[in-house]
Amino acid sequence: MRLDGRARDYEKKHGPPRMRMRHLPFAIGALERQQWMACMEAAMEECRVAEDLRTNLRQGFVGLAERIQNRP
Ligand code: HEM
Repeated sequence: MRLDGRARDYEKKHGPPRMRMRHLPFAIGALERQQWMACMEAAMEECRVAEDLRTNLRQGFVGLAERIQNRP
C-alpha cells in the first residue's frame, strides 16, 4: 500500500501496524468483510462524504478488507 504524509510518519516512529496479524485471532470470512464494508459505507453516509471522495475511499477500503480477511 502506498503511504503518504502522517501514515508514513506513524510507520517511521512505530513500525508497520501489522493489521492482518492483529486480526488473525478473529475469524474474518466473506460475510464479516461484507459487513465491515457496509459499516464503512454507513460511516461515509453519516459524515456526508462527497461522492468523488467516496469512490476513492471505497477503493482503499476494498483492498484493506481483502487483506484482513483470514477465512474463506
Ligand atoms: C474485513 C474487514 C475488517 C473486519 C471484519 C474487522 C474486524 C475486527 C474485529 C472483530 C476486531 C476485534 C474487536 C474486539 O477486540 O472486540 C478488530 C480490531 C481492530 N481493527 Fe478491524 N476489521 C477489519 C478491517 C480493519 C481495517 C482495514 C482496519 C484499519 C486499517 C482495522 C482496524 C482495527 C483496529 C485498530 C483494531 C484493534 C486492534 C487491536 O486491539 O490490536 N480493521 N477488527
